[in-house]
Amino acid sequence: MQQTPLLEIEHLEIRGAAGAVVSDVGFSVAAGEIVCVVGESGCGKSLSALAVLDLLPPGLSITGGGIRFEGKDVLPAEARRKLRGRAVGMIFQEPATALNPVYTIGFQIGEMLPALSRARRKARIDELLDRVGLPPATAASYPHQLSGGMKQRAMISMALAGEPRLLLCDEPTTALDPTVGAQILAQIQALTAVAGTSGDDGTSGDEGIGVVLITHDFHAVSRMRGRIVVMYAGQIVERGPIREVLDHPAHPYTAALLDTLPKKGKRPGSISGQVPPPGMRPAGCPFSNRCRVVLERCEAEPPPWRDAGAGQKFRCWREP
Ligand SMILES: Nc1ncnc2c1ncn2[C@@H]1O[C@H](COP(=O)(O)OP(=O)(O)O)[C@@H](O)[C@H]1O
Ligand SMILES: [Mg+2]
Repeated sequence: MQQTPLLEIEHLEIRGAAGAVVSDVGFSVAAGEIVCVVGESGCGKSLSALAVLDLLPPGLSITGGGIRFEGKDVLPAEARRKLRGRAVGMIFQEPATALNPVYTIGFQIGEMLPALSRARRKARIDELLDRVGLPPATAASYPHQLSGGMKQRAMISMALAGEPRLLLCDEPTTALDPTVGAQILAQIQALTAVAGTSGDDGTSGDEGIGVVLITHDFHAVSRMRGRIVVMYAGQIVERGPIREVLDHPAHPYTAALLDTLPKKGKRPGSISGQVPPPGMRPAGCPFSNRCRVVLERCEAEPPPWRDAGAGQKFRCWREP
């Protein structure tokens, strides 16, 4: 089945005063598809997502590559700003800071909706709450009356109010209890399968939305069906179907990252050293100074992309 590409990022480069913070990042997301982005802190995951909506912090800008949305070039900043809250929704880590404490959840969702009659507005709010697993009564609640998980669900319903075709989620469950976080990630994945609800113009989506999910929750990722992108020091080092990459990581960084997870009867490993900051990255492979199987060549020359089969690709001097 041919899926519609929603977002296509190619050779994205983001630079600041210290040099490139993100280089040669590329991936695409189709309607109904989830793409998980993983990697330690400081690898450029958030900046890559923020760039899509022209939300880069001051001092950083896109200096190379391309971004297309539904086939249209959105590299001009104005085009990316227009995606915000409409075609593309974004959800951040901390729901408490984004909700206004003095207004009810229903009021805040209503603010995101276009002008509608009272009855239709109420029906639409109920529908949006239902889509994220919240009962209609939540509309009358104030943020402080909700648990962290419910607040994050409310944030997702607000992001869905603009009928986005793509949702960018930046560590949406890091601040939550692991069990609650897992339920929310499952709900986010469900959005990719659910047919779009009726819009106020009477249109009805027949495809699920596309999702980019930045997360550290490998356990939740392992239960998803989709693709994964592994980032290290501003670059993508491995990509492919979730199952393939988690079952047979091909890049030494992916393997080391998976090794840090607790497993039954096995002591979790650790990756010595830290992600090098921009401007301090090795000339060849960015992981070369922490890699346990480093070759001489790795320190001198950027590694090529290699094919591990079944759509899995990795950037390494070692053969699969
Ligand atoms: N406002 C900024 N100005 C300059 N450099 C920044 C800024 N924000 C982030 N960076 C640099 O970019 C790197 C990647 O950041 P980020 O995308 O937030 O990483 P991640 O989301 O993977 O943890 C950071 O380690 C930092 O060195
Ligand atoms: Mg981040």
